[in-house]
Amino acid sequence: MKEIEKENLMEKVVSLCKRRGFIFPGSEIYGGLQGFYDFGPLGVEMKNNLKQLWWNWMTREHDDIVGIDGAIITNPKVWEASGHLKSFVDPLVECKKCHHRFKADDLAENKCPDCSGEITEPKMFNILVPTQLGVVEGEKQNAYLRGEACQTIYLDYKSVLDTTRLKIPFGICQIGKAFRNEVTPGNFLFRQREFEQWDLQWLCHPDEMEKWFEYWKSERMAWYKSIFTYPENLSFYQHEKLAHYAKKAFDIEYAASPMGKEKEMEGIHWRGDWDLSRHAEFSGQDLSYIDPETGEKFIPNIVETSGGVDRTFLFLMLDAYSEEDDRVVLKLNPKIAPYKVAVFPLLANKPQLVKSARKIYDDLKKQFMTAWDDRGNIGKRYYSQDEIGTPWCATIDFESLKDKKVTVRDRDSMKQKRVPIKNLKEYFKNKLLEC
Ligand code: GAP
Repeated sequence: MKEIEKENLMEKVVSLCKRRGFIFPGSEIYGGLQGFYDFGPLGVEMKNNLKQLWWNWMTREHDDIVGIDGAIITNPKVWEASGHLKSFVDPLVECKKCHHRFKADDLAENKCPDCSGEITEPKMFNILVPTQLGVVEGEKQNAYLRGEACQTIYLDYKSVLDTTRLKIPFGICQIGKAFRNEVTPGNFLFRQREFEQWDLQWLCHPDEMEKWFEYWKSERMAWYKSIFTYPENLSFYQHEKLAHYAKKAFDIEYAASPMGKEKEMEGIHWRGDWDLSRHAEFSGQDLSYIDPETGEKFIPNIVETSGGVDRTFLFLMLDAYSEEDDRVVLKLNPKIAPYKVAVFPLLANKPQLVKSARKIYDDLKKQFMTAWDDRGNIGKRYYSQDEIGTPWCATIDFESLKDKKVTVRDRDSMKQKRVPIKNLKEYFKNKLLEC
């Protein structure tokens, strides 16, 4: 397992995220708002890369999975049917001495972790975020921002079936925002009030649930392992205490999390027929499926894989952060790194070098997210790119003007290699395919 006990790892990652434009605290100029963050120029590139990888894996590598993009606000009855109005609650306790508040589930002992004071009895709070629609006072309609993204998939399942040639078993996937009035938001991106989820709802015959549950559990773990720097830092955790909709649940955890108990990245949930049966009951619509070959009529059962985009982002950063001698390196998988290549003219005051470097830069950026840097010395430029995870830097020197080759330097090994300019695109394309 990777040595993760680096001192103040979380603080260092938070600071790097702010300093280099990955993540900013939300509405900072007004003093911020707890549980809300903005993705900066590098953060949004990385997050988009991550989401694109997930989306392509789901929809292109699986012929039997299609995507949707549902609305954040739905008819409020959805949350009654889903059980969230009744059961989506967090137990909150308060220290009688220092008045700090905690989620009761997070406390190992029955006393305040900050001052050892006595704590109150837990009070239950519903964490759905309410909102109001309409403009006329007294006629406004109460609604909720969705507490979990997946509900729209259940609402749209029949329409998907009617508009595609899919047959059970099949999957519907979605990436989208969810909102929760978390009683104790914290640990940076880990527990926010607004966050993004990537969900797959796999619909199958009830007799095949066990098979598909095991299948998706292992597929999802393999996918996460393929993008982490140290895959051995991931593991499964089996839940004993289950959410109201689940009969069986495993988490994929980032086992080396420096935040102690806060490790969950994705949940694999046995939702069975809970959701579709409830929506059929509350909407009065028939949501059963008729097998076109056997004529059998049944409510599809569901295996859900529901992960946090932001938590994955955070764990990838913690996993990739390294300090080597006097450099900080983000050893991100190149597919996820915000920039793939950085192009430098060896000297900024030599027009020939700048012109040639600029031409290469203009050409590469058509295909890859490419950075340009002509400030300071070459060593500083390398270190600056290492810190944001750019896997390769290409330097154009005087030799390049003669032999038409550039020096490509690798982020992790720091090894350098001369590559012909005419082969550069192909070179980086192949490198990316290898990771
Ligand atoms: N549809 C099932 C569902 O929402 P969940 O375990 O409550 O299940 C799924 O959430 C994933 O969403 C979690 O594994 C986590 O990665 C992410 N998540 C949940 N609450 C979060 C929060 N407050 N901030 C950031 N991510 C969160």
